[in-house]
Amino acid sequence: MTATKIVGGVCGSLLVFLLVKWGADVIYGGGEGGGEMEAAYVIEVEGADQTETAAVEATGPTFAELLASADVVKGEKTFGKCKACHKVDDGKNATGPYLYGVVGRAQASAVGFKYSDALASLGGTWTPEELDAFITSPKTYAPGTKMSFKGLSKPTDRANLIAYLETLGG
Ligand code: HEC
Repeated sequence: MTATKIVGGVCGSLLVFLLVKWGADVIYGGGEGGGEMEAAYVIEVEGADQTETAAVEATGPTFAELLASADVVKGEKTFGKCKACHKVDDGKNATGPYLYGVVGRAQASAVGFKYSDALASLGGTWTPEELDAFITSPKTYAPGTKMSFKGLSKPTDRANLIAYLETLGG
């Protein structure tokens, strides 16, 4: 009898310990993917109501705010990561389509570039917001895209880059 009680007690406290640890991981991010999300932590808790999530997200600057204070010179530097595949001159396709005038351009509309179905079927416009989403993770935005670039995780890097792309005319 006593042995059963002891075992039961130990199991019980272990369970409580695991639950507390799990709760802490959920709340404090558990350390995985550290540094990925700078601007905001989106905490996914089952049944958490919308207002809670919104309050947490509101702690970082919005994309519009970042774009308004973006640094074009830094953006041009960040564009170094795109240069291997993209040219900025009008009409000059490379591994990727030319990015001249890409902000405000119809998606998959560079003349003479053969797009993947993933991009060709989007049918929208490259607004700064859409570009931000695409550059965050091309494969998440357009599954099957042939742009083999993992994405830029820093919101400020993306805002600076998009501000630079806006200077390219079109
Ligand atoms: C390894 C090569 C590569 C790199 C690096 C790369 N891209 Fe691309 N990009 C492509 C290819 C290929 C496509 C066409 C994708 C398709 O058709 O699925 C593309 C498409 C795009 C498009 C869509 C354009 C349109 O006409 O619809 C944008 C915008 C874009 N890239 C921006 C960027 C930016 C900004 C960077 C740097 C942060 C970058 N790319 C880095 C290869 C690359």
